[in-house]
Amino acid sequence: MYPEGFRWGVATSAYQIEGAAREDGKGPSIWDTYAHTAGKIKNGDTGDVANDHYHRYREDVALMRALGVDAYRFSIAWPRIFPDGVGGPNPAGVDFYRRLVDELLAAGIEPFPTLYHWDLPQALQDRGGWGSRDTAEAFADYAGFVAQQLGDRVTNFFTMNEFHSFIDIGHRGLETPIQGEIVRIEHAPGLQLPPAELHQARHHAVLAQGLAVQAIHASGSPGVRCGPAENVNTAVPVIETPEHVRAAEIATRELNAPYLTVMLEGRYTDAYLEASGADAPSFTDEDLAAIASPLDFVGINLYRPHSYVVATDDGPGYRELSFSMSHPKMFSPWHLLGPEVMYWGPRHVQALWNPDAIYVTENGCGGADEPDASGAVVDTDRVMFLRNHLTHLARATSEGIPVAGSFLWSFMDNFEWSDGFDTRFGLFHVDFESQKRTPKTSADYYREVIIHNAVM
Ligand code: FCB
Repeated sequence: MYPEGFRWGVATSAYQIEGAAREDGKGPSIWDTYAHTAGKIKNGDTGDVANDHYHRYREDVALMRALGVDAYRFSIAWPRIFPDGVGGPNPAGVDFYRRLVDELLAAGIEPFPTLYHWDLPQALQDRGGWGSRDTAEAFADYAGFVAQQLGDRVTNFFTMNEFHSFIDIGHRGLETPIQGEIVRIEHAPGLQLPPAELHQARHHAVLAQGLAVQAIHASGSPGVRCGPAENVNTAVPVIETPEHVRAAEIATRELNAPYLTVMLEGRYTDAYLEASGADAPSFTDEDLAAIASPLDFVGINLYRPHSYVVATDDGPGYRELSFSMSHPKMFSPWHLLGPEVMYWGPRHVQALWNPDAIYVTENGCGGADEPDASGAVVDTDRVMFLRNHLTHLARATSEGIPVAGSFLWSFMDNFEWSDGFDTRFGLFHVDFESQKRTPKTSADYYREVIIHNAVM
């Protein structure tokens, strides 16, 4: 059983579902530009129409209600609110999110908007993007404005989604050897920055989040709460002995040094600064104080362990083990399977930083799901994945780790970044020609979990 009041949600993001890329005054984002660059996205897919959620949000909220969730994490497209990133707001953009939020509230579903899920206004990219400190200030202004506009209807905001993904993967790309193959991932804006510039961009991103936390709290909307949604790099102890557990904790702290660790400790770790040497970011004490602005909760996205680790007597006190050639994987090339991440992610975050509350802001898996001859979409692999992950999460809550809720990625199949529409993460299958939504077996599964507040 999960604790009473545990929040069961689903998650999506603006560029992945909304479509209406040029409607009602929306400005272009770096993802509009990137997706329209030849060769970047599988099959030449783009988010121009995606799930057409901008026009079908009522129907989608009705499906969520039938699913039984009481929380929905979606993202707000910055360039819908400020088409040029800064300057005058676009009332039609604000109005769309007001209507969406009202629809959710009427359905008994609490909105948990994320302010930045990677769709930086192109106008800001043209002025240096995350390489420029001005972008951090612009983000805080935008965040404060949204909190003020929606704060009468929304209590909880997630600031930014997955720092490593939009900074490191967006500005350098990621190449990981996985079972004999090099898996390369790239995100918008698709740059190859030299190390010093990359470190500085990381610093601007955490500064943006800290300044945004201050702006949201100062927005005048009583009771608004906020925190990041970070893809925490989680080290899993290979065997649950005190030495390996401690090693995994130390590893988790270091593996998150440029992001969660500095946000929660207000300093870069010595090892991080030493390893970056002359390329280390330049920063002031004031920056660090802003970056460490107190959070109301910490959101963590959990898909796989970063690694399994063992304790060592020398060096940093831990060693990361490599995954064997036969380690099981889910459908996405990067998706090594390790459901223990759902226990160790929250446990390490609590042990290291003791936040007031933790949300699992994303957990789920991709597939190649298609309807069978009868029209049913049978995804027992996803049911297996969820059952195992939710079992480990239940262990965390039963030990008193303050996980307040979990958002499944994703409510429906959508534009999976460079993988386009071929990789399907949804509880609902989407036919992108007709826009028909069909619940998969996993939707039936999740509905039962929610009804019973227990792993089924
Ligand atoms: C996460 C992203 C989300 C989605 C899932 C599969 O990294 O935050 O948008 O693409 O992966």
